[in-house]
Formats: sequence, structure tokens, C-alpha cells
Amino acid sequence: MPLVSLKPMLTAAREQHYAVPAINVGNYETVCAVFEAAERERSPVIIQIFKRLVDQGDATRLAPLIRAMADRASVPVALHLDHGATIAQVMQTLRAGFSSVMIDASTLPLADNVATVRKVVEIAHSLDVAVEAELGHVPAATSDQIEAGLTDPGEAAGFVRDTGVDALAVAIGTAHGMYKKTPVLDFDRLEKIARVVDVPLVLHGGSCTPADALRRSIELGVTKINVATEYQNLFLEATKTELERLNGQFVPVDLFMKPVSAQLVEFVRARIQLFGSSGRA
Ligand code: 13P
Repeated sequence: MPLVSLKPMLTAAREQHYAVPAINVGNYETVCAVFEAAERERSPVIIQIFKRLVDQGDATRLAPLIRAMADRASVPVALHLDHGATIAQVMQTLRAGFSSVMIDASTLPLADNVATVRKVVEIAHSLDVAVEAELGHVPAATSDQIEAGLTDPGEAAGFVRDTGVDALAVAIGTAHGMYKKTPVLDFDRLEKIARVVDVPLVLHGGSCTPADALRRSIELGVTKINVATEYQNLFLEATKTELERLNGQFVPVDLFMKPVSAQLVEFVRARIQLFGSSGRA
């Protein structure tokens, strides 16, 4: 089926209390493994591409492949821009046929965040493309500033109303990348936000966040969980293990990648099962 919109995908997840995995891809193998896992689990899935890959041209090269694979897939797939920072990045991904975009103006003052998101919403909605934005700021896991960026529940309803955004990324204690210590999530804050906001909520920094914390977040209204570092690190580690096993022996790259891809598929299947999206396609 053609790429699907984020909005109905996440609305269904919200109504039925599960989350859709949003997996950051970077090359052919990381794309194919997400499709394979979603098919095997009969799950909707979000393939997302980080802004750096837009600037490098990789996003527009990968998009036709992902669109063609989605056309042949029997499960719903969305193609999403992750952490779009400029109108130029948004426009490039819209032209490349992405089905949703994130505009991340979360480090700007609130009024500037609202104005930036509002502008992207106007452009994207004219093309029936859904928009995710971030209120508060989810930092890098190396940061000591996680607390400082937590989303203010008192700003959430106004932000959604004034921007017209379709999905809201919240800062409740997760961070991007490998944690220095186990994150503690602020579920009271999440509960307060979920009570006043009527759009689906997004959790960034899904890598290495404890499973019970992710489950609780889903119960409280999170419907999209982003996973990048853990997935891509698995690709690197599995590749290294394969190279060591071969010990200098030549293998064609397609065959070399098979055991690596098999591990990627199992990783995504495990996230689908954890997030409860198995069988929801
Ligand atoms: P991780 O790299 O921590 O999984 O975070 C991914 C993310 O939130 C992408 O937006």
C-alpha cells in the first residue's frame, strides 16, 4: 500500500493503547530490516530519517526505495523526517514524498517555537502531510541538562492549539543516545500533559530506556517511540562480529550482510512486541 499518514496511524495507536516504533534508518540494510520485521509482526511502522541525511542527499536517494517497498508491503508504513531544523529540509522531504515531518524548534523561546511550527504546519497540511513538533527539549544523553528541558504541562495545550501540530514530542526524562545512567521518567508530568493535549504523544530517546518505563509511557498516552542509537549500534556491532568471524576471508557483500540483517530484524521485532503494535496492521 502507498505510504500512510502518521495521523490515522497514531490515532489508532492512541485509541488502542499501543505505540508504533519509529526507527531511524541510514542505509539499505537498516531500511529492509524494518520492513521485514513489520511484515513478520503484522505491525504498522514508521521509518524515519534524521536531518543530517537530508543535507547529505541520502534522504532523497533512500526515499524512492522506501516508497516502492511500502507500495509492495502489506502493512502500513510511514516515512518521517526526524528533527527537521529548517524549512529547506522540510521542503526537500516533502518533494521526496515523505508522509510526515518533524520540525524541531525546541531550543528556541516558546513564541519562536510556536511561530516556526505554525509555518511548517501551514505548508505541510496543504499537502496532507502531518507534522510532529517538540515542546520542552530532549537533550543528548551526555547532557547534564535533562531536568532543565522537561516539558511544562501548562504550555502543552496552548502549544498544540496555536501550532495546529498533529503529534507532540515531550521531554519527560529520556535523552538521545547511550545513557550514562538509567533514566528516570517523570510519569506525573506525562499524565498531566496527556490530560490536556488531544494529539498523539511522541517519546524520543527510546534506546536503552528500560522496558517497564516504555510500557508505562504507552499506558499514559505515548503512541510513537523513536529508536535510533541502539538499532544503528547493533548494525555496527554485528558487522564487526561478522568481520572477525571471517578473519580476512572474502564474502560478497550481499551474503556478508545476511546475518547482520537477521539481527536487525529480530531487534525491530522485539521493539514491536514491547510497544504492543504486533498484529495491529
Ligand atoms: P535514540 O538514539 O536515543 O534512540 O533516540 C532516537 C530519537 O529520539 C530520534 O529522534
